[in-house]
Amino acid sequence: MAQTPVKVTVTGAAGQIGYALLFRIASGQLLGADVPVKLSLLEIPQAVKAAEGTAMELDDCAFPLLSGIEVTDDANKAFDGASVALLVGARPRTAGMERGDLLQANGGIFGPQGKAINDNAADDIRVLVVGNPANTNSLIAQQHAPDVPAERFTAMTRLDHNRALSQLAAKLQVPVTEIKKMTIWGNHSATQYPDLFHAEVGGKVAAEQVDEAWLRDTFIPTVAKRGAAIIEARGASSAASAANAAIDHVFDWVNGTEWTSAAIPSDGSYGVPEGLISSFPVASRDGKWEIIQGLEIDAFSRERIDASVRELEEERAAVRELGLI
Ligand code: NAD
Ligand code: LMR
Repeated sequence: MAQTPVKVTVTGAAGQIGYALLFRIASGQLLGADVPVKLSLLEIPQAVKAAEGTAMELDDCAFPLLSGIEVTDDANKAFDGASVALLVGARPRTAGMERGDLLQANGGIFGPQGKAINDNAADDIRVLVVGNPANTNSLIAQQHAPDVPAERFTAMTRLDHNRALSQLAAKLQVPVTEIKKMTIWGNHSATQYPDLFHAEVGGKVAAEQVDEAWLRDTFIPTVAKRGAAIIEARGASSAASAANAAIDHVFDWVNGTEWTSAAIPSDGSYGVPEGLISSFPVASRDGKWEIIQGLEIDAFSRERIDASVRELEEERAAVRELGLI
């Protein structure tokens, strides 16, 4: 018997990430080449027409795995029966704007969406927040969904992870496939810490294959500020690469991986306060993220992880102050 289609809800579907994302989901790249999907596109009323246009284009692709599309501005309808929710819709950062400025602008979106997920989604719902500030937006949504297991709420640092792979591969002149055990720690922001002390290239520690000044003064800031550099260059925040990372995150969550980076609720590992949605080195087994344990953290890494985690704590305090959680 044909498999029942999996409902995937995408918020901000008429935006630029949405446009880069939806066709890849419909073609089977999110869940697997044998998994039929139903798409639900959630937008604000002013953008519903544009989302309907995208739905027309999706129809015109005649994707064999796409069993249906709905477009709505009603979150309860959009998340009804959803097994995957990609929360992309938010106000993107524009030139000169700091991510902290976004807390107030975007915080109000994620509470109601969290509640709609709580009230309507399927029991196996998995949530990936892409809209910035992604970690804290995910926390807000999670806090409004008390009936959903907390660990189903995640935020995206896979784009940072992929950027780190690409920068290191270029430096060492190796294919990205030679690099293993890359890790992004902390917040999806300029304080994030891309860690080369546990990454390996050709089986040897990556940090030992580059000079310290490059690691500290070029690699870390290039990865951490890449989002701002893309905004500066394109005049808009990254879209296709963000969509690609969202696909990678969910595919690995569902299908398993031995090592990647994802922002998931902390269980207190590595000194990250419990409950913060922070990026860790993770594996995915049996459809669940697990924090990779037992890594030694030296003083250099400790300082940087702590700085990013501090920022997450400040964001949590700020949204508490605003009454958003
Ligand atoms: P965009 O402005 O092109 O699209 C955003 C869309 O969201 C718009 O169509 C808007 O109408 C919609 N929207 C706004 N509020 C909504 C709501 N309440 N419900 C449903 N839809 C809503 O922006 P974009 O370039 O697609 O980026 C989306 C978000 O992703 C931004 O916050 C951006 O900063 C973030 N982003 C995150 C990463 C990451 O790595 N985590 C990378 C790139 C971009
Ligand atoms: C990115 O990493 O490309 C984005 O999160 C940048 C941004 O702030 O929108």
